[in-house]
Amino acid sequence: MSEKSYQNIIVEKADGITWVTLNRPEKRNAMSPQLHYDMDDALAELAVDEETKVLVLTGAGAAFSAGQDLQLYFRDTAHDPAERRRSNEAAHSWFYQRLTTFPKPTIAMVNGYCFGGGLTPVCACDFAIAAEDALFGLSEINWGILPGGYVSWQIANVMSFRDAMHYAVSGETFDGKKAAELRFVTFAVPREELRQATIDYARMLMAKNPAAVRFTKEAIRAVKGMPAAQALDYLRAKGDALKGADDEDGRAQGMSQFLDEKSYRPGLGPYQRRRAKKD
Ligand code: ACO
Repeated sequence: MSEKSYQNIIVEKADGITWVTLNRPEKRNAMSPQLHYDMDDALAELAVDEETKVLVLTGAGAAFSAGQDLQLYFRDTAHDPAERRRSNEAAHSWFYQRLTTFPKPTIAMVNGYCFGGGLTPVCACDFAIAAEDALFGLSEINWGILPGGYVSWQIANVMSFRDAMHYAVSGETFDGKKAAELRFVTFAVPREELRQATIDYARMLMAKNPAAVRFTKEAIRAVKGMPAAQALDYLRAKGDALKGADDEDGRAQGMSQFLDEKSYRPGLGPYQRRRAKKD
């Protein structure tokens, strides 16, 4: 895929990692309608892009995202129902549907301020790595609205009931370190280590069988809320589907490397990935 240029985001690719950067630093990456259109388009293309093995979402400058753009997203579309609807649909499409169904692992690299609607893509990504001094907040309450869109729903899913209630109703901020304690992010690191820690995590993911990673992340999302018997049935069918979808035949390779070659320990790390069966 040729790299496309966008007005409000930057897409860069290196060594299997595709970095998507929300790029309105002068507005703390507040999300304008154009940013939503850019993201919706980019994620649709990157989902089927062979170079993209892991997707990292981050923000330019001091912020990850200061949430919806109060001027461009709210005020300017207040009397333009068509544009309000279009931008609303694009927003919900990329920061929920496209991210949660993205076929490769997704990491939110939270580099700074993350408020309101900015929390949605963090929740939607498979993993989140934050700078310890990043600052999160459900600030909606501070200007008299509730966390709408998917925000309240996602917060209630990702956080404990007590934490979701507390942070949504008080609007109190929490930093990256606290976000890791709350299990709102996967882990937090000092700011100067953020990029390298994200690259290391992405490389760890890329060392695994890609079909197994995809099917596992889909399964973890799908079984949440299913009754046990339904989950068992779903996982049986999903496991069978994985065998058909796995070009590397990872199961056979892993078994053979452990049982015959005795060359690795599956409990301690991935098998040696070899040439795909169908090139
Ligand atoms: N919408 C529109 N513009 C914004 C937003 C936003 N959400 N956030 C920041 N900006 C703009 C500011 O208006 C300012 O523009 P200007 O330079 O033209 O005056 C510029 O970005 C820089 O903002 P400052 O406030 O000067 O930056 P500072 O670093 O001091 O503070 C902070 C950053 C804490 C993020 C602050 O801008 C802020 O509180 N923003 C709003 C956060 C918020 O409540 N977001 C939720 C929105 S509601 C929702 O998402 C559903």
